[in-house]
Amino acid sequence: MSNPLSGFAELAAAARAVRENAYVPYSHFKVGAALRAPSGAVYVGCNVENVAYPEGTCAEAGAIAALVAAGETEIVAAYVIADSAHPVPPCGGCRQKLFEFARGDVEVTMATVDGGQETVTVADLLPGAFGSAHMDRT
Ligand code: THU
Repeated sequence: MSNPLSGFAELAAAARAVRENAYVPYSHFKVGAALRAPSGAVYVGCNVENVAYPEGTCAEAGAIAALVAAGETEIVAAYVIADSAHPVPPCGGCRQKLFEFARGDVEVTMATVDGGQETVTVADLLPGAFGSAHMDRT
């Protein structure tokens, strides 16, 4: 077997590892995200802050950008990890970004570095999501 970890464990390990690279001089709150595409490939991202605070980007956004840059357009599983007492849910903007590339039944696991874990679906995170069908007048 080329990869001794299960698919889920591989995703979790990737998110945990990339979190270490987060650039967070302002919040000091490191977040890591890992996404699996239908090809099986895993894409990762960490939050990257900026002195002009609104210009900072979330870990999920970085992972989505990596997935799309690699030529993929679908997410089949997501994992987000932070050093918090309780699993950190994606922000509102990232929920919409995940919805762009993931079906509603795709599982998003939120984890803490201490081992806390909670899994929800993309639909749970963004009920009533704005989608392309809402622009249809017919
Ligand atoms: N952050 C993420 O990267 N993902 C989330 O799901 C929640 C928040 C980042 C943004 C900012 O760099 C820091 O966490 C504090 O909000």
